[in-house]
Amino acid sequence: MCGIVGYTGFQDAYDIVINGLRRLEYRGYDSAGIVLEGSNNKLEVEKTKGKVDDLVNISAQLKGTAKIGMGHTRWATHGVPSDRNSHPHLSNNGKIAIVHNGIIENYDTIKTMLIEKGFTFKSETDTEVLVNLVQYFMDLKSETDFPTAVRYALNEVYGAYAITVLHEDYPGVLVVARLGSPLAIGIGDKEYFIASDASPFVEFTKEAIYLEEGHMATISLEKGVDIRTINDNSKIEPEVQELKLSLEQIEKGGYEHFMLKEIFEQPKSIHDTMRGRLLVDEGVIKMAGIWDHLERFKNANRIIIIACGTSWHAGLIGEYLIEEYARIPVEVEYASEFRYRNPIITDKDVVIAISQSGETADTMAALKLAKEKGAFIYGICNVVDSSIARITDAGSYTHAGPEIGVASTKAFTAQLTILTLIAFKLGKHNGNLGNAEFMSLIAELDAIPKKIEEVLNTTHELTQNIAKDFVSTTNFLYLGRGYNYPAALEGALKLKEISYIHAEGYPAAEMKHGPIALIDENMPIVIIAPKKGHYDKIVSNVQEIKARKGKIIAVVNKGDHQVSSMADYVIEIPETSECFSPIVASVPLQLLAYYIAVYRGANVDQPRNLAKSVTVE
Ligand code: F6R
Repeated sequence: MCGIVGYTGFQDAYDIVINGLRRLEYRGYDSAGIVLEGSNNKLEVEKTKGKVDDLVNISAQLKGTAKIGMGHTRWATHGVPSDRNSHPHLSNNGKIAIVHNGIIENYDTIKTMLIEKGFTFKSETDTEVLVNLVQYFMDLKSETDFPTAVRYALNEVYGAYAITVLHEDYPGVLVVARLGSPLAIGIGDKEYFIASDASPFVEFTKEAIYLEEGHMATISLEKGVDIRTINDNSKIEPEVQELKLSLEQIEKGGYEHFMLKEIFEQPKSIHDTMRGRLLVDEGVIKMAGIWDHLERFKNANRIIIIACGTSWHAGLIGEYLIEEYARIPVEVEYASEFRYRNPIITDKDVVIAISQSGETADTMAALKLAKEKGAFIYGICNVVDSSIARITDAGSYTHAGPEIGVASTKAFTAQLTILTLIAFKLGKHNGNLGNAEFMSLIAELDAIPKKIEEVLNTTHELTQNIAKDFVSTTNFLYLGRGYNYPAALEGALKLKEISYIHAEGYPAAEMKHGPIALIDENMPIVIIAPKKGHYDKIVSNVQEIKARKGKIIAVVNKGDHQVSSMADYVIEIPETSECFSPIVASVPLQLLAYYIAVYRGANVDQPRNLAKSVTVE
């Protein structure tokens, strides 16, 4: 949800900023812009609606002109994507430039005040209000210096932000701040990098400071990094961390798209999720986050899982897992609903937040609410040190590696893996899962990466062929029962978000209560029908579809006859215990969605209107 990059050092700032923006384009891609402080200290701005490539087309003259600058790739919140609304934004006097990720909620009130003071606005954005507020504070008293004016301005705004600001009269100085949106500062040798995540500078330095909530920093080659609290200007000692990220992890590695690479990475990512946790020979699951707080889990009245989108689908499967194996009641809530509906939460509740990015604004706000009410809060995040990971009492990282394709794939199966481990671990400890069953389940879980590998090999070409027949389809229905009902929801979400084909997921039995009216010879229905898990019931559902001439794409176990004989297309997956089937079944559904979208000419890695981390509500 908007990416920001900044640089000061000895290299060409244009190259660093443009390459950094390319890496952050997953965060938003409806407009892009750059500002450089040239040799005469004048700020040179270029910005445009469109992608980073469009920015490069209009800004090549800036190459080699500066050693300090910053850029932005946008996901529109206030104001449509347009040249005018693109960042950077300049203050009225043209001296201050800002790039911003987040939302200033009270921008309208401030804008009215500034207009009364004679300020004018070129864009419809909240960000232009903020940069003019900085100018306002500098104009107000001549002794107010640039960082102080930024601080004063930030103390007047509500909302979320990660910002980087430059001032023509303060050459060589970058002021950055964060509240609710991430910001990392890369520490190089005689150079500093700023970015929404560490990917833009990973090849230049392994040292970074992750700016904390409510902190700002003034950065210059001369004085280094000076960190202060925004509210009272207290000095903070920076905590420099070593980056684990490598360049290969954030490159496409020969695949046409990040999404395809990430689908194919799943045997490894699931393995990485289990590494050091699942010790089959010793018959144990090691999870410090759970172990250290076992009593909280064991004594919990209930577990509430909060999440959005794909992570919410993982949460639904988590409910099946935890209730079946640990026998603890679970409720799954959309974070956006939970936070606004005055939920009943007590200190006997355990709240688990699932978030790939660890930055989703609704999930974050819902967690804060649960924390205030005394619940124990647990995080399942992929991005290390993300905001959600930091505010939780404990948690488990998914360790799936960076997920750059906007549609979540490997993060989803990694979330399922963690939830499976949690369910088995809690079940073992509270005595609901006997030793023999536990041992057999963990051995099966250990073999899941191999099964995914097999599925990738056997369904890759098949899903491409099936996809060709559905390029012009306008609607899809996805059905599943039990554990595979949420897998059906996720299959439908994958298809709609990247191909723009309308798709709905339903519990198969619910079909009779409405969606059946849609079924005719033009309606493709993807039905997940593994042997274990209400198979006979699914057979009846398939018969009902067949009787109405729906086109059936069935995901079945190898050697299946009944459903396969009625299906128009058959995708075979290996047999597993029911609880593992959503992990395995999701893989061909990801491939199917991917290829349908590719054949429709869609930009699968950057679907329209979406962004990877939704840092606004
Ligand atoms: C869909 C997708 C989104 C995210 C949702 C939550 O493919 O990626 O639905 O799952 O925006 O994001 P996180 O998990 O980062 O909180």
